[in-house]
Amino acid sequence: MDSDGLLTVRDGHLCFDGVDLAAAAGRLETPFYVYSERRLRANAAALLDGFGARHPATEIFFASKACSNLWFLHVVRDAGLSVEVNSGGELAKALRVGFAPRQIVFNGVAKTEVEIAAAVDAGVRAILADSLFELERVALVAARLEKAAAVAPRVDVHVPTLTHPGLETAHGGKAGIDRDDAVTAFRRAADDPWLVPVGLHLHVGSQITSVEPYRQAVETALDIVDEVERVPGVRLEFLDAGGGFAVPYREPLAAGVAGAAGPEGARPDYFSSALAVDDYAAAICGVLVSRRPDLTLFLEPGRSLATTCGVLVTRVENAKTKKRRGAGGEVTGAEDWLTIDAGFNTLLEHTNYAWYFRTLVAGRAGEPADRPFRLAGPLCDGGDVFAGDGDTPYRRFPAGTGVGDIVVFLEAGGYTLEMMNQYNARPRAAAYAATRDGGLAQIRRRESDADLAAFDLTPGFGV
Ligand SMILES: Cc1ncc(COP(=O)(O)O)c(C=O)c1O
Repeated sequence: MDSDGLLTVRDGHLCFDGVDLAAAAGRLETPFYVYSERRLRANAAALLDGFGARHPATEIFFASKACSNLWFLHVVRDAGLSVEVNSGGELAKALRVGFAPRQIVFNGVAKTEVEIAAAVDAGVRAILADSLFELERVALVAARLEKAAAVAPRVDVHVPTLTHPGLETAHGGKAGIDRDDAVTAFRRAADDPWLVPVGLHLHVGSQITSVEPYRQAVETALDIVDEVERVPGVRLEFLDAGGGFAVPYREPLAAGVAGAAGPEGARPDYFSSALAVDDYAAAICGVLVSRRPDLTLFLEPGRSLATTCGVLVTRVENAKTKKRRGAGGEVTGAEDWLTIDAGFNTLLEHTNYAWYFRTLVAGRAGEPADRPFRLAGPLCDGGDVFAGDGDTPYRRFPAGTGVGDIVVFLEAGGYTLEMMNQYNARPRAAAYAATRDGGLAQIRRRESDADLAAFDLTPGFGV
């Protein structure tokens, strides 16, 4: 069913890395996530090989914000990758799974003194400083600890990316140092006895479906490197080009279809991408190798590693047919609704970025999916309704799909477990890893009613 055989159909049932998802949902409480170690290792190898072939001095730091589950991080480490962390919590998890400090870069746009102290104390490879103020803060902490801190200022290289506006990070906005302040930042670092300027960092955004922003970003970054290396004492080891490689969440929409303009109207359909690892590698390494082959290339991919490794398994808990009405209440048609047991408590991106995830009905994988349904989550909000296929509000499922059917969200391994919440006092879901024999090993437990109450305190009322 998909190019590398991860999705297959057995006796009309959808299987993910050998796991019959309908059968699994028959014995496990839904919703739950299933991860594929095989896919994760293949994704890691593709990145290592693709970039390594064009620039052997490349180091890949998995952006753990995409999935900081401990099992997942163990596989990432074992597959030969390093890790990018974005908070003290992610740093603690990375150290806990055994990443060496040299394998960790520390990012973030509001690092606290406590977080910086933890990073300096651990001796991470670099702190990616977000502002001139933050450089001062790192210098203060490093002096207090009497331990040198390697820093790589993050510079806003100002390139448009046409991804979802919420995922653009180097086109103005909150992240990074203005490029006109880059020389000041490096001079400040070079002049400080406790700071060591080792690299320059940029990150253009996430789900970037064109290579042009990378080309422009690396050109601009290397212009800045030329400028900052005129500062005495500054000779950089690496350029960190961030992450952002896109995942094909759906086939490209036909030209002329309204949705092809993208959810915001003016942007291209950023849910579809035809780019492979080598396209990004050619663009980034092409510029880097022609201008500064001596620089090590750091990359921080998250989505492109994690997303295709996971699926979300949900169950239809309610079904109804409702009349569709016009502005005056007149009947204009009817539509079938299916309500499943996962909403933006389990898959937050579907509402906060109006994200599109493909869906299949696990027990009806052999049947034609030609009936339109509105698909909704269980939360009380009217907005907890999933985007439709193409430019419609409808999902296409087999006729007869109804209560008890298992709806599977594909490409759901990245930015999903991380963003779960307990809204409407719903437990956060469990996660499993597919085992080699088609079984499941639990990698995150489902929360209980006790977990839902675990952090509330009731002074004056006893317990
Ligand atoms: C600084 C930084 N690096 C890396 C990433 C990972 O991006 P992606 O998951 O799109 O590869 C992000 C997320 O946007 C980020 O903010």
